[in-house]
Amino acid sequence: MDRTSKWPTWPSVWGSQLRRWIPGFPWSLAIAAFIAVLGYGAVLLAQDQPVSISFIVRSVEMDQLQGLIDEFEQENPDIDINLIEGPNAADSVENLYTTSFLLGDSPFDLIYSDVVWIPKFAAAGWVMDLSERIEASGLDLDSFSAADLASGRYQDGLYRLPFRSDVGMLYYRTDIIDQLGVAPPETFEELKEIAQRAQAETDVDLGYVWQGLQYEGLVTNFVEIITGYGGFWIDADTLEVGLDQPEAVQAVEFLRSTIETGITPAGVTNYLEEDALRPFENGNAMFMRNWPYAWAEVNAEDSPVRGKVALKPMVHAPGQEPAACLGGWGFAISKSTPHPDEAWKVVEFFTARQSQKQFIIENAYVPSRPDLFTDVDVLNAYPHYEELKAVAEFATPRPPVGQYAQLSDILQRYLSSALTNQMTAEAAMEKAAGESRRVLNSGRRNADA
Ligand code: GLC
Repeated sequence: MDRTSKWPTWPSVWGSQLRRWIPGFPWSLAIAAFIAVLGYGAVLLAQDQPVSISFIVRSVEMDQLQGLIDEFEQENPDIDINLIEGPNAADSVENLYTTSFLLGDSPFDLIYSDVVWIPKFAAAGWVMDLSERIEASGLDLDSFSAADLASGRYQDGLYRLPFRSDVGMLYYRTDIIDQLGVAPPETFEELKEIAQRAQAETDVDLGYVWQGLQYEGLVTNFVEIITGYGGFWIDADTLEVGLDQPEAVQAVEFLRSTIETGITPAGVTNYLEEDALRPFENGNAMFMRNWPYAWAEVNAEDSPVRGKVALKPMVHAPGQEPAACLGGWGFAISKSTPHPDEAWKVVEFFTARQSQKQFIIENAYVPSRPDLFTDVDVLNAYPHYEELKAVAEFATPRPPVGQYAQLSDILQRYLSSALTNQMTAEAAMEKAAGESRRVLNSGRRNADA
C-alpha cells in the first residue's frame, strides 16, 4: 500500500482535517505556540542540569583531589566537576592543554596549572585575568605565599591562584643513619659516601634515588643541584644563561656519578617521582629526592619504613647553600569557557583556607597560604612541618619566561644525552646553553618588533 495514503502528510491533509473539526480556529498560530512552549520547557530542563566544569590533572593527583571535589559538589549541586585523568609527567599535561587551545576552543573550563605555565598561557591569550574577580570577591592576596602568587602574574594581570605549593628535598632513613653512626649529609660528597656505606653495610640495595627521565621532573632535580654548586640555569632578571659555566657541568657530572658509582640504578633515566618512591618506601633505598607528598606515602600505615624516615634540604657543595626547586599547582580559567562564573566558584572553593588546610592534612603537601605552616591542626597531623618549613626557606623558582616550555625541553634533552652517556657533560651543556640563548634572543626580537 502506498504510505502516503496510510499516513496523510502534514499540512495538506492533516491541516484541512483540523480545519474541518473547528472551522475558523487559527491552527497555525496554535501549533507555533505549542512548539515554543516545548522549546522553553527544554531550556528549563537544560537549566536544571548541573553545569559541568572540566580540567585535567596528573593521574597521581586524581585520588588526592577527590575528597574536596565531593565536598564542592555537595555544596554546589548545580555544578559538576569533570576531572580528566592525565599522564603523570607535568609537561605532558601541559602539552595536552596546549594542544587543546591550539586546535580551537578548548573543552577545558579550568587549567590546573603547574607553577611554570602561566607566562606562556597568558601571553597566548588562553586564560583570563582574574584581577577583577579577585577584587570583587574581597579575597586577601596577602594571605598567599608571594612566590606562589608571583608565578601566576603576567604583565599587569594575575592569571592563576595557588592551590598548593611544592618544594624538592632529600629524604633519608633515620634508622640507617643511626646504624652507621653518621650525621645526615650536608654536601654532595657526604651523600655519596653515606649512600655507598649503606649499600655495603646494611640491607638496602640502592643508595640514592631521584627523577632522571627526560621530563620536567629531571629539570627540577637539576635546578637543585646546579644551585647547590652556586650556579644557575637562567637568570630571571637578565635572562643570562648559566649552562656553559663550570657549575652546570659539575652538576651534570654529579648526577652522572651517582649512576657510575652505582649508588643510583642506571634505570633512574626512566624514573618519575612515583618510580623513585617505590623502592624507597619498600625499604630498599637510603636516600630519595622527592616532593612533600612522599612523606604521607612513606608513613602510611602499611609502609615498611613508617617512622624511619626524615627529610632535610638538598645537599650542596661546601660553602654553598641548599636549594629546593619551587613547584606547585593552582587554578586558571580558560578564556573559552562558556561558564566563567561556575569556574570561578571552583577556583574560590579550592584556594580557600579551609580547603587548602584539609588538602594538606590529607596529603602532606606544602600550603600556599603560609599561616597554615603554624596551624595547630596541621602541626598535630604533621610534626615534620618544622623541617618542611626549613626546606621551604630555600625555595628556588624556575625562570618565569614565556618560552619556558621550550627552554625546559632543551635542557631535558641535553641532560638526558649526558646521563645516558651519549654526550659529555661539557658538550651537552654547551649545546644546551647555545640553543637556550637562541630561544631567548628570538623572544627578545619578537618583543621589540
Ligand atoms: C611537582 C611540582 C611541579 C613540577 C613537577 C615535576 O608536581 O609541583 O611544579 O613541575 O613536580 O615533575
